[in-house]
Amino acid sequence: MTDETLRFYNANAEAYAGDKKSPDPRLFAFLARCKPGGRILELGTGGGVDAAAIIGEGFDLDATDGSAELAAIATRQLGRPVRTMLFEELDAVAAYDGIYACASLTHVARTELADIIAKIHRALVDGGVVWASFKTGDGEATDAFERRYNFLPPEDLMSLWRSAAPWSELSQDQWLGSAYDRKSTEWLAVTAVK
Ligand SMILES: C[S@@+](CC[C@H](N)C(=O)[O-])C[C@H]1O[C@@H](n2cnc3c(N)ncnc32)[C@H](O)[C@@H]1O
Repeated sequence: MTDETLRFYNANAEAYAGDKKSPDPRLFAFLARCKPGGRILELGTGGGVDAAAIIGEGFDLDATDGSAELAAIATRQLGRPVRTMLFEELDAVAAYDGIYACASLTHVARTELADIIAKIHRALVDGGVVWASFKTGDGEATDAFERRYNFLPPEDLMSLWRSAAPWSELSQDQWLGSAYDRKSTEWLAVTAVK
């Protein structure tokens, strides 16, 4: 399946990858909660900037992206293979100590998000941690680049995570930031422990 969102990332892969200069500052708090040197899955690695930092911190990274063009760029940047994988293709069971999804699951259709969250839960070991950031809002929509967003209100996003899988801990972090489109953006990151 190649939806309009992945068409954007494939067609603009070089420009998109070149736009991110440094790792997400919240990455390191997530890594501090993961087993040192543990196995981390990244969903939607983009150009591989966060991936390089995860490897640099000594973790065993399985980096993936649904865009074959971005996966190829990240493969070059990291000097190791980045797998082309759609979120819905995740079928691992108890394989990862941590799962990191920076601004990627924000593209999943609302009707499919609970299923992806359940797959993430299944893919984690007991005690494993997931961190996923979302643009929040009040209605599914497409942006000026034709990328689709689920744009959930914070309370709906948290209640979806709560009901999709039996997490032992669930917390949120909200901030005002920006993104590739340079617009002021309300972000919410979920941290959940299996
Ligand atoms: C906003 S970018 C974030 C990229 C990177 N995490 C970062 O912070 O720079 C969203 C990423 O999700 C990927 N993506 C979008 N839809 C996807 C899908 N259905 N399956 C897998 N990856 C997808 C895109 O190719 C893109 O790399």
